[in-house]
Amino acid sequence: MARRCFIAGNWKMNKTVAESLALVRELRSAVSMVRDRVEVAIAPPFTALHPVAKALEDSNIVLAAQTCHASESGAFTGEIAAPMLKELGCSYVILGHSERRQLFGETDAGVNRKVSAVLKAGMLPIVCVGETLEQREGGNTLSVVETQVKGCLSGFSAIDGARFVIAYEPVWAIGTGKTASSRQAQEVHAHIRSLLGGLWGAETAGQVRIQYGGSVKADNAAELLSQPDIDGALVGGASLKVADFAAIVKAKA
Ligand code: PGA
Repeated sequence: MARRCFIAGNWKMNKTVAESLALVRELRSAVSMVRDRVEVAIAPPFTALHPVAKALEDSNIVLAAQTCHASESGAFTGEIAAPMLKELGCSYVILGHSERRQLFGETDAGVNRKVSAVLKAGMLPIVCVGETLEQREGGNTLSVVETQVKGCLSGFSAIDGARFVIAYEPVWAIGTGKTASSRQAQEVHAHIRSLLGGLWGAETAGQVRIQYGGSVKADNAAELLSQPDIDGALVGGASLKVADFAAIVKAKA
């Protein structure tokens, strides 16, 4: 079965509720032409999830959250649990983004626990992996990504695994305007798919969608998405501008 292209917008800590609603109003019609040929998700900040969920009704855009806590409830001041996100209408949760890893101390083991929580709540994870510039220059890209993939994803069945989304985001390409070349990205995506084959078998690995993320823009999306193992994009900066995000959504449609 062909993997359906999946474009997700990670809004990070941007947009008030009013700004979010204004963006969504335009976005709905800007991406409606792809219908179900491309899956489209947006991940606004927590504060905007509820109003945005309502504003997305009867659209072809689904809702994602940017992180969650691994526990269902409890004394974790300031945190948000997966069932709370499900209740608001989220379909996906981004986990292990490099900003969470670098700025908030997230680890592969922690991401692994969050993946369990997200599945248990009836949502699907978008698990982010990727090397720093130092790691790439040291020739360690594939081994770093291997450690992350195994640490985040071990212990899950092939049935769950088939529905996971992985996002390969080289840290040096995030928000920097530097994109991995399509060849560099394809090499890592193919490696990730072979690792997934080791975890769940080749058939399941062939069903998992692997997004590329890191300075994806309207003018480089088509080239990246033309690679055999690049099944979509996780878009930061360009997801905040309707025309740019819509152009990326349409790049493969
Ligand atoms: P960027 O961010 O597109 O702004 O580089 C990507 C991401 O952080 O997911």
